[in-house]
Amino acid sequence: MGSVTETANTAAARKVTVIFVLGGPGSGKGTQCTNIVQNFGYTHLSAGDLLRAEIKSGSENGTMIQNMIKEGKIVPAEVTIKLLQKAIQGSDNVKFLIDGFPRNEENRAAFESITGILPEIVLFFDCSEEEMEKRLLGRNQGREDDNIETIRKRFNVYMESSLPVIQYYDNLGKVRKIDAAKPIDAVFEDVKTIFEKVNTE
Ligand code: C5P
Ligand code: MG
Repeated sequence: MGSVTETANTAAARKVTVIFVLGGPGSGKGTQCTNIVQNFGYTHLSAGDLLRAEIKSGSENGTMIQNMIKEGKIVPAEVTIKLLQKAIQGSDNVKFLIDGFPRNEENRAAFESITGILPEIVLFFDCSEEEMEKRLLGRNQGREDDNIETIRKRFNVYMESSLPVIQYYDNLGKVRKIDAAKPIDAVFEDVKTIFEKVNTE
């Protein structure tokens, strides 16, 4: 349990900058995070990737996480936050892109109270469901949740649970909305304009 406080203290002491990268499944969050890492020196933490790695590692939570992902459901915040904290702690960097998190109000509130970290900005990749579905069905990454049944469930969770979190941050003036239906390079041009203005002091 000591590790929770320790991370909060460590993060505060290191003045960690966090940017949340949100948007529906298939909106291009991961792709653009790769571009941002190459150009702006951030470390990319994908909540989904961390959860999938946890399944592979054979941890005691693995089966639970696998079942939730298959159903498109959101894993309890405590589990995902531990993985994020571990990754932040284990990094020498002080600038992080957290992709696919917070996915619901529980994620958001727990991260804030456990780590004490507030996002500098929230990048929001706005894309139509039709376009996202096309991308998810076409990407062939071998994911168990990129099938039409699970995709529909993920869209529902996104609409019901994730959009309200984006709305929450929008009310705080933190959201930077990007038209994510455009081609990858065009989206990155818009991303760059935003990152050139981010304060990482
Ligand atoms: O972001 P990504 O599409 O990789 O997430 C895949 C799945 O991982 C989600 O549908 C959800 O089941 C799980 N996840 C989660 N909590 C998060 C991020 C992802 O439960 N914050
Ligand atoms: Mg992703």
